[in-house]
Amino acid sequence: MSADPGLFATIHTMRAMRRLKPDPVPEAVLLKVLEAGTCAPSGQNLQRWAFLVVTDDAGKRFFGERYRHWLHARFGAALETAAGSSDALGRSVKAALHLADHMHEAPVLLFCCGVRDWPFAVPPEARSGLAPPSYGSIYPAVQNILLACRGLGLGASLTTMHQMFEPEMHEFFGIPDTHGVVAVIPIGYPRGKFGPVSRDPAPTKTHFNRWGQGRPGLAEPAG
Ligand SMILES: Cc1cc2nc3c(=O)[nH]c(=O)nc-3n(C[C@H](O)[C@H](O)[C@H](O)COP(=O)(O)O)c2cc1C
Repeated sequence: MSADPGLFATIHTMRAMRRLKPDPVPEAVLLKVLEAGTCAPSGQNLQRWAFLVVTDDAGKRFFGERYRHWLHARFGAALETAAGSSDALGRSVKAALHLADHMHEAPVLLFCCGVRDWPFAVPPEARSGLAPPSYGSIYPAVQNILLACRGLGLGASLTTMHQMFEPEMHEFFGIPDTHGVVAVIPIGYPRGKFGPVSRDPAPTKTHFNRWGQGRPGLAEPAG
């Protein structure tokens, strides 16, 4: 296991790591990751998250097959076209396709779930069907989990393609309708190397005092 790289190096090198070795992740390491997740903030500190750790073949195969099917059904030929390019998008799509083909080989599939709860802005008369899970209260835990994985030398990536077949997951894994699945994180030791993330500089996304105002010496905010 590699040494903890430190907070800022962790943040700056926490790329989606979609190529994973099949070597098992020790349960003590996984629990450390989950402890980091549950340190996250949540609305009113209600901590309405729940995690399902899937390590058995039947569960991983069930999930992997559907994930792969829906990735192709949703994005179709555009995926193969993008994967043919040698630019950053092409590399990312190739990795996403690799993950879909090998999802069932990931040592751990971590389902991050949240209690369903109507957002304040949805008035009672507009509520029908199932409420969504409170994404805002679950994503901080998801991010902590991704950072903890990186800090512990584990590869992980955030996926949401399960939205295409979530009802089937509820049935197969016995997840109650009180909860929604917010993200699925395949976790394992990385095949590749960690490297810096590629992002637009913060000033291009930042306005000061009034929308559209930048700061002398900094790049202008876009849009
Ligand atoms: C809300 C959200 C949903 C995502 N869903 C998927 C997904 O279903 N499959 C996948 O391979 N990556 C998914 N990603 C990962 C992004 O594609 C990835 O973080 C982004 O392309 C940046 O790549 P990098 O972190 O390697 O730089 C998702 C990320 C977010 C934040």
